Amino acid sequence: MPSASTRSPFSTTETTAVGVSVEGLSKNFGRLQVLKNLTFAVEPGEIFVLMGPSGSGKSVLLKHIVGLELPTAGRVLVDGHDAASEETREHVRMALVFQSGALFNSLSVYDNLALYPREHQVASEAAIRDKVMRALQILSLEGTAQKSPSELSGGMRKRVAIARGLVMEPQLMLYDEPTSELDPVMSATIAEIIGLLREEYHVTSIVVSHDRELALGIADRVGILMGGELVSLGTPAELKAPKDPRVVEFLNPKIDLKNPRFKQLET
Ligand SMILES: Nc1ncnc2c1ncn2[C@@H]1O[C@H](COP(=O)(O)OP(=O)(O)O)[C@@H](O)[C@H]1O
Ligand SMILES: [Mg+2]
Repeated sequence: MPSASTRSPFSTTETTAVGVSVEGLSKNFGRLQVLKNLTFAVEPGEIFVLMGPSGSGKSVLLKHIVGLELPTAGRVLVDGHDAASEETREHVRMALVFQSGALFNSLSVYDNLALYPREHQVASEAAIRDKVMRALQILSLEGTAQKSPSELSGGMRKRVAIARGLVMEPQLMLYDEPTSELDPVMSATIAEIIGLLREEYHVTSIVVSHDRELALGIADRVGILMGGELVSLGTPAELKAPKDPRVVEFLNPKIDLKNPRFKQLET
């Protein structure tokens, strides 16, 4: 007999957003310490944007939140339970939109989106079809349903990856560089979608981005990670006048053509 406590991802009309709590999180890969004693919390329903230079540990941090990496020290809690625990896997619907999209080229766009609900046997094929088509419509992708992701542009693949997350009706949505490689119009669309998901579904969003405009435009709070440390945490308004010189330099980089780096460019 199926247990009464099993919650079907599509049986609830109301989604409860979940909070994330990162407590003293450190991560080493061999001798390389990638995350250094990070502590912060993301509130249910919040849009939290994580910025930082390449290699600062942003993707590694996201992987801890979805339970794909385990801490060397400290812990990550999702809705009060360890991120990698069975409790979390079974009861929290999370979607991670990977930087690369991570789509199956052997499947059509439609089947990529239908994969999760089919595997979890949570709805009839007709109900799955409704959800998939609605997600494609929200992302202006109706014409791509029968195509392979390999036939699409980078921007379209990115939207397909977001649509696939949407079909899961997540409580927690994580995006790794959702606007990289996109033109400004499409970047603005993605920003709108992230906002819409919060309004419509009350989803908690953690967005990793280099895109300063996106970050300051949609975030409730922005964290800046440098060398595995959280060097700044505050509202976009607070970031307009940063005090830490590293943050000033990161947000307003000055290009100095006299810098030796540019020497080879001189004629
Ligand atoms: N699985 C891994 N094994 C060893 N080193 C890793 C692994 N994943 C990431 N790293 C290293 O951790 C650092 C942070 O990586 P990452 O989180 O991907 O940076 P970014 O901020 O650009 O997303 C980099 O130096 C990267 O090489
Ligand atoms: Mg990354």
